[in-house]
Amino acid sequence: MTTTEHLLTADGVTVRFGGLTALDDVGLQVAPGSVVGLIGPNGAGKTTLFNVLSGVLRPTAGTITWKGAPPPGRRTHHLARAGIARTFQGLNLFPMMTVLDNVVAGADRLARGGAFSLVSGLGRHHRDERDLRARALGALERFGIAEHAHRLPGTLPYGVQKQVALARACVSDPELLLLDEPASGLSGAQIDALADQIRGFSQDMAVVLVEHHMDLVMRVCDHIVVLNFGRVISTGTPAQVQADPAVTQAYLGTPADSFGGESAAGDVNGAAR
Ligand SMILES: Nc1ncnc2c1ncn2[C@@H]1O[C@H](COP(=O)(O)OP(=O)(O)OP(=O)(O)O)[C@@H](O)[C@H]1O
Ligand SMILES: [Mg+2]
Repeated sequence: MTTTEHLLTADGVTVRFGGLTALDDVGLQVAPGSVVGLIGPNGAGKTTLFNVLSGVLRPTAGTITWKGAPPPGRRTHHLARAGIARTFQGLNLFPMMTVLDNVVAGADRLARGGAFSLVSGLGRHHRDERDLRARALGALERFGIAEHAHRLPGTLPYGVQKQVALARACVSDPELLLLDEPASGLSGAQIDALADQIRGFSQDMAVVLVEHHMDLVMRVCDHIVVLNFGRVISTGTPAQVQADPAVTQAYLGTPADSFGGESAAGDVNGAAR
């Protein structure tokens, strides 16, 4: 597949924060409909790469290409309209807005104004606002959380709040969804359900998944990129990455069987701290 057939390409991306090199000559390609895992120990540069991919952070060097052209802009609504959505490490929901309004805010790809003009209705036609609310409610129904539409996020269990964050990202029907640690804080059963959701998504959209839960990563990803100290140390299929001694070395300090047996179901985040 050529570069232009990829939805998203990162090439030679370097990010320096003062004297710290958070990303060093990183490359990444995301094909339409694929699920790409981005893994690595704490501080490896995963979230920094997400910030570059989603246009929030301008790299010190290197380029990002979205559908063969430069990224559409740095604001969330530019990205959303171009077909890129993300969730954040943690929840990042608007705490004083209802679940429904949080998801309406994610629908601003379809709107003329930004999230707050949507929610408040400022400068908007009532019918447009009704359409967006119906669309957001549809997303809540798809995620099985419509019963919570009028609650504030902080009053709901953490697993439900994570689903709200997912619904907010998906309501704009993105072509690319960037998920930063969607499984953190979830139970085993919730992670199983999340794996099914991600595999379901990928029929319609590409996903880049940052995650410490190796079992989830290995189950859902078509391709994996491993970062350590800002550099790509391994890439390939889940089987190839699991078999790469450089990867186990990065996580555990020794080329041990970190991805085999019971440990594969766990969160290797702890091992990397
Ligand atoms: N805004 C910033 N200013 C200075 N240093 C930063 C900034 N953001 C990240 N860093 C540093 O860059 C490195 C990469 O951080 P990043 O958050 O991308 O790692 P990560 O792989 O997402 O880690 P984790 O798994 O803990 O979320 C770390 O050393 C971090 O301290
Ligand atoms: Mg991170």
